[in-house]
Amino acid sequence: MSDHTASFTVPFSLRPPRPPRQHPIPPPQAAAAAIPTLSTSPTLLPTQIRLAQIVEMIHVASLLHDDVIDRSPLRRGAPSAPAAFGNKLSVLAGDFLLGRTSAALSRLGENEVVELIASVIANLVEGEILQLKAVHGEDLGISGSAVRGAVGQNNWNVYMQKSYLKTATLMAKGARAAVVLGGCREGEVWKEIAYAYGRNLGLAFQLMDDVLDYEAGEGTLGKPGGADLKLGLATGPALFAWEEHSEMGPLIERKFSQEGDVELARDLVRRSSGVERTRSLALSYADKAREVLSLLPESDAKSALEVLAERVVKRTS
Ligand code: FPP
Ligand code: MG
Repeated sequence: MSDHTASFTVPFSLRPPRPPRQHPIPPPQAAAAAIPTLSTSPTLLPTQIRLAQIVEMIHVASLLHDDVIDRSPLRRGAPSAPAAFGNKLSVLAGDFLLGRTSAALSRLGENEVVELIASVIANLVEGEILQLKAVHGEDLGISGSAVRGAVGQNNWNVYMQKSYLKTATLMAKGARAAVVLGGCREGEVWKEIAYAYGRNLGLAFQLMDDVLDYEAGEGTLGKPGGADLKLGLATGPALFAWEEHSEMGPLIERKFSQEGDVELARDLVRRSSGVERTRSLALSYADKAREVLSLLPESDAKSALEVLAERVVKRTS
C-alpha cells in the first residue's frame, strides 16, 4: 500500500498479492493472473456492517476536527459543529467518536483490520499536517512543501499524496478491511482489488471536491465558492491554471494572502482549462477504479461499486 510522494504520479494500478507469509511455496504467477473465484457467497456479514459504521464514525470525527482547523462556519449548508457548539466541544466530540471507534474495532477480533483502520487515523492526521505545512509551514516552524518556480511533477505528487492521506485512505483501507473480514486469505487478490478500487475512487472524489469548490456559487453548494483559496490552498484547478498562466506562481507562493489575490486566482482559473483538466483527471481515476473491478465475478455488489465510481464524478454537491 505505497504512499510515498512519487507513487501519486499516475492512477494506482492493481498489484499482484504478496505470497502468503506462512506458506513456503507461493502460488504460481499464472494462478494469480487467472480469473479468481469467490470462496463464499457475496452476503454482508454483521462485522462488515459494523466496520461500515466505524468508517463513518471516523469520517465524522475527522470533519468535526477539520471544521475547527478550517474555521468553517457551515457544513453542507448548516452551521458547523464549531459554529454551533464551539471549538472545544467539537474537538472533544471527535475524540469521543474515535474512542468509541477503537472499542468497536477491537470487538471485531481481527488484528489486520485493527491495524488497517488505525493506520487510516494516522493517515488522516498526516494529510492534514501536509496541508497545514504547505500553507502555514513557516509560521509553525516546519518546512513547507516546495511551491517555488514552475509547477512541477513534485507539486502534483504532493497534492495527490495529500488527497490520498486526507480522503482516499479511508475508502482504500476501509474497503480492504471489509474484504479481510469477508475471509480473504493472504495471497488472494481480493484485498488488492478492494484497496486499488478505494484508492482510485477516493482520489476521484477529492479531485471532484476541488473542482466543486471552484464551481460553488454564492451558497449553491451550502458553502461559498473559493473556500480552498481563502485557506491558502492550491488544488488541482489552480495547479493546472499555473501551467497556463505563470502569474499564478507568485499567488500560490504567498498563499493568496494579499488583498485581491483570491479574486485574481479565481479569474486565472476561469481563464484557464484548470477546472476541465481537473475534472478529466478525476474521470481517469474513476475509470481506473472501475477497471480494477473487472476481476470480480458479476454480482449486485460489483454493479453498485461501478455505479458509485460513476456517481463520484457526476456529483454536483
Ligand atoms: C475535509 O477536507 C477533511 C478531511 C477529509 C480530513 C480531516 C482530518 C483531520 C482534521 C485529522 C484528524 C482526524 C481524525 C480522525 C480526528 P476539506 O477541508 O478539503 O473538505 P470540506 O470542504 O468538506 O471541509
Ligand atoms: Mg474543511
